[in-house]
Amino acid sequence: MKQLYLIGFMGSGKTTVGRSIKEQYGIDYIDLDEAIEGRLHKRIVDIFKEEGEEAFRTYETETLKALKTTPIIATGGGIIERSENISYMKENGIIIYLKTSFDTIKLRLTRDQSRPLWKDEKQNKALFDKRNKIYEYSAGYIVHCDNRTTKEIIEEIV
Ligand code: S3P
Repeated sequence: MKQLYLIGFMGSGKTTVGRSIKEQYGIDYIDLDEAIEGRLHKRIVDIFKEEGEEAFRTYETETLKALKTTPIIATGGGIIERSENISYMKENGIIIYLKTSFDTIKLRLTRDQSRPLWKDEKQNKALFDKRNKIYEYSAGYIVHCDNRTTKEIIEEIV
């Protein structure tokens, strides 16, 4: 079975889109961050604080590969930080990039405290620009998400 991987920057709507596809079409979905937290019984912020980003990336890769039967996976924004994850997703399914502008993301995450890598404006923008290129070349499909409803985005994906 081919899986569908939703990729995109923090706050691009991967979880919302995955959850809505499940609700509307009854297709099972899992949020990779939630799966990691469930496996480790630890919150993402605590994993970063106590074990660091590299340890988190290893859990992320292991969990991605362990979820073989779930049709839709909403990944974390940093899934493309390891090229082995990109190769794995390309081999096993279809990658959809939920492309959202930096300005939209900034509005959504202004007061967000749950994301360890959402820092000051300069660092956020640099990370966004670096990753946007990687999302673009990794994805089989790019769905533009600015000024569109979840319903419209889902219809395009389906
Ligand atoms: C991360 C994004 C987060 C989460 C972790 C690291 C990143 O997921 O995996 O905080 O490196 O961009 P979301 O994209 O769901 O916020």
